[in-house]
Amino acid sequence: MKHGIVVTIDGPAGAGKSTVARRLARELGYELLDTGSLYRTVALIARQRGIAWDDEPGLADICRSLEVEFRFDGDVNRVMAHGSDVSDDIRQPAISQGASQVSALPAVRAGLLDLQRRIGASGGVVVEGRDTGTVVFPRAQAKFFLTASDQVRARRRYDELTSAGADITFEETLTEQRTRDQRDSGRDVAPLARAPDAVLVDSSDMSVDQVVADIAAQVRTREAAHHEEP
Ligand code: DC
Repeated sequence: MKHGIVVTIDGPAGAGKSTVARRLARELGYELLDTGSLYRTVALIARQRGIAWDDEPGLADICRSLEVEFRFDGDVNRVMAHGSDVSDDIRQPAISQGASQVSALPAVRAGLLDLQRRIGASGGVVVEGRDTGTVVFPRAQAKFFLTASDQVRARRRYDELTSAGADITFEETLTEQRTRDQRDSGRDVAPLARAPDAVLVDSSDMSVDQVVADIAAQVRTREAAHHEEP
């Protein structure tokens, strides 16, 4: 069995979580559990089966029988649901909206808890999301809360959107992001919050390489301490 600890990375949109989590997992030889893709997969399956994104009992049924696996294909973390590769489908803009809606429902959050814990049970995993250090793995051995100033996060998002051809201003991007931040931090169920024992990493003035190197060094120290435990 592979050895290793549970590393959680939470934080707001645009802080660079996905890139950092993927690079970190590759560097450590860990698996990557991208929890956002589970909410996305629930939204996708609901749409395929004609179940509305506010049909809480219907969505809870999907969660109960959901089978998801992650597999690195080079540097891309592929998502397999019930044996099919859904990696591209779950990134469609309509599904992002659906994921945001279904993730606010208590039955969906509860329904995905067991699956997340099962995937992370044997350790050697980087878990990325919004509530992974607070709710999903409160006893994780290494927790990080990755953030950046809202100006920097909005700039990154703006660059990403405009290079994909979107017609949007920086001010609009910033305003949308502030609205989303307020919704994510203010919701009743599993709001975005830093766990008291999570290390705060502010990536505003750091490159991705620097963030990954900084976090990897801290994880190695925690790994060593973990293996020395009786
Ligand atoms: O990180 P992402 O964009 O793939 O997440 C998709 C949606 O799921 C997003 O609206 C936030 C939500 N989410 C969540 O509520 N809790 C998580 N642990 C991960 C994602």
